[in-house]
Amino acid sequence: MATKILFVCLGNICRSPAAEGVFKQKIKERDLEKLFAVDSAGTGSWHVGNLADPRMRETALSRGIELTSRSRKIEECDLYEFDYILVMDNDNFDAVKSLIKDHRNPVNSKIKLILSYSKNSKLEEVPDPYYGGQHGFDKVLDLLDDAIDGLIDSLID
Ligand code: 4NP
Repeated sequence: MATKILFVCLGNICRSPAAEGVFKQKIKERDLEKLFAVDSAGTGSWHVGNLADPRMRETALSRGIELTSRSRKIEECDLYEFDYILVMDNDNFDAVKSLIKDHRNPVNSKIKLILSYSKNSKLEEVPDPYYGGQHGFDKVLDLLDDAIDGLIDSLID
């Protein structure tokens, strides 16, 4: 059975689709595609149905990563469907936790900050690039590249 990974941010048009794209590229490069199923979602619904932000898509494409996913809002059933729910910041963390209705179900331990897997960064959160300049989009990909190496290493250990 494939391990199911869900990346989560606020709008699901910048950080989490980028994480999904980076993860997919890395498992392809490492010939691990059969082991994983990956998706992304947002805690907000403003951009549902949209492709990732053009700035995020362009920045990812400049690194050979095509972002094709469309925004969707996270639902309570995702908490049970996925094995790992990896959030970009503490607001996402709180929003995902607030979806838990059945407190007897041990889903809490599935929810983690993606940068807890970083090898080289001490940052806790992936900064939201939406209202900033190009640097923010490059920073998102730099942080995710490093953390997702750490994540994949931990999953295949
Ligand atoms: P994301 O970035 O959470 O990384 O997708 C954002 C996208 C849109 C908005 C905020 C953050 N927004 O306010 O519309």
